[in-house]
Amino acid sequence: MASFIVVEGLEGAGKSSVIARLMSVLKEHQFDVINTREPGGTPMAEAIRDCVKQDWDESVTQETELLLMYAARSQLVENIIKPALKSGTWVIGDRHDLSSVAYQGGGRGVSLDTLKSLRQMTLGDFAPHFTLYLDIEPSVGLARARGRGELDRIEQAGLAFFERARQTYQEQVASMPNAVTVDASQAMQKVQDDAANALNTYIKHVLSAQASNADV
Ligand code: TMP
Repeated sequence: MASFIVVEGLEGAGKSSVIARLMSVLKEHQFDVINTREPGGTPMAEAIRDCVKQDWDESVTQETELLLMYAARSQLVENIIKPALKSGTWVIGDRHDLSSVAYQGGGRGVSLDTLKSLRQMTLGDFAPHFTLYLDIEPSVGLARARGRGELDRIEQAGLAFFERARQTYQEQVASMPNAVTVDASQAMQKVQDDAANALNTYIKHVLSAQASNADV
């Protein structure tokens, strides 16, 4: 059975390099694999991505931002992720629901109850099988993001916003049995190695569960 693996973290945590490495790990195991990003990943969800990232000549309410994230997520999950998993293709997600909990919940202050009911309405019981959280100091991550160019509307939210988002990530991940934290302040090679090791441990666990199911 294919799994949905999600990579989470603040800007500049190194998600793209880690995802490239995880794709190679899955291919070495001869698994079919695709990668997705959120918000985005379908034509409509990519249009929503542009919409949430760009600067507007009006204030963007936290409700608008939140609903757009879930609208994009619904398009991606129903049109891409679920069909891929059904056909046996593994999916590596660059962000998923935990980003909304960290950014809109921790960062903007949307209540966990509101997030929970939107999640229930949009995703039901659908959830990642395994989450890798790349933990980085916001000041370090933002400096890396700034080095890549102009900051987008969300990246301009300020250090305190990202401190709250990080704290929420850390609290949530600590309570998730199927999530692993990688210290993203290390050299990128080491971050990738740690992430690849964590994924290999997860794959071993999946393969041995499948083998013992086949035995019965
Ligand atoms: P990125 O994938 O290039 O990091 O850009 C996505 C931006 O959108 C990033 O600033 C995080 C933000 N975001 C949210 O605020 N909530 C969400 O639910 C998701 C998926 C992303």
